Amino acid sequence: MALVELRNVIKTYLDGESGPITALQVTDLRINRGEFVCLAGPSGAGKTTLLNIIGCIDRPTAGRVLIAGRDTAKLRGGQLAGLRRMAFGFVFQSFNLIAVLSAYENVEYVLLLQHVPAVERRQRVGEALESVGLARLMHKRPGQLSGGQQQRVAVARAIVGRPLLVLADEPTANLDSQTGEELIALFFALQQQSQTTFVFSSHDPAVIQRARRTLAMRDGRIVADERLDGKDLPSQSRFSGQIHFPQVGAEIHPFVRPENAHGQPDDRPEVD
Ligand SMILES: Nc1ncnc2c1ncn2[C@@H]1O[C@H](COP(=O)(O)OP(=O)(O)OP(=O)(O)O)[C@@H](O)[C@H]1O
Ligand SMILES: [Mg+2]
Repeated sequence: MALVELRNVIKTYLDGESGPITALQVTDLRINRGEFVCLAGPSGAGKTTLLNIIGCIDRPTAGRVLIAGRDTAKLRGGQLAGLRRMAFGFVFQSFNLIAVLSAYENVEYVLLLQHVPAVERRQRVGEALESVGLARLMHKRPGQLSGGQQQRVAVARAIVGRPLLVLADEPTANLDSQTGEELIALFFALQQQSQTTFVFSSHDPAVIQRARRTLAMRDGRIVADERLDGKDLPSQSRFSGQIHFPQVGAEIHPFVRPENAHGQPDDRPEVD
């Protein structure tokens, strides 16, 4: 079963100056667990729209979005929120950090929503911030950090919850090329360790060429879907931090809530 499946999805915005804009038109897209996918394409191609639809932040105007085989249109509000909270990690194009919270608190917030106990929270937030090279700055608020540092807080926040799927919108756009490459290497290391699925957008050829699968987008459509199995992998040695990801139990039934190790309900969906 695919982790993500889009069937005949159309997203139309009605507030275009010269009539409705079809921002996205995807007939058939499947992304399997553990894939490392880049959405590439010029500004306006529909990358953000596609990420928002996969992440159930936005609903399509027509068509179906299935996550782990479940039609998201049929999920109740609480189930949809549970899916976003437990299964997805987001890195937004504009960071969306909470201004009054420190870097540490911005990252910890995800684990509070997941009811992770305090001792484990402290350890995991520390590890996530360390893995993006920000342990030193953990008590700064977003306004006291550079754009690139804020981006790295956003990445730490996206991965700390151990999601099945990380959706990252231009995650390297505000980073210098070396930090950008390190970030993609970190994503790749996480993907290798934990089978976390990554879908990220980029304009940057150096980033795009790191992906195992590239979806080229133009005018809201996927115009090429390339899998590059034989190319060089990003070196894990660039990734100095250590993140311990457990395998998500295959026995977890979609959206039912067995208890996890902390006695808390676990509503991550099952995927093959
Ligand atoms: N809220 C909105 N209202 C109206 N039109 C929108 C809205 N959001 C996006 N669009 C339009 O939809 C199309 C796709 O936009 P999208 O933001 O997905 O592109 P993108 O590939 O992410 O571009 P960029 O690289 O600049 O971030 C564009 O034509 C854009 O103008
Ligand atoms: Mg965009």
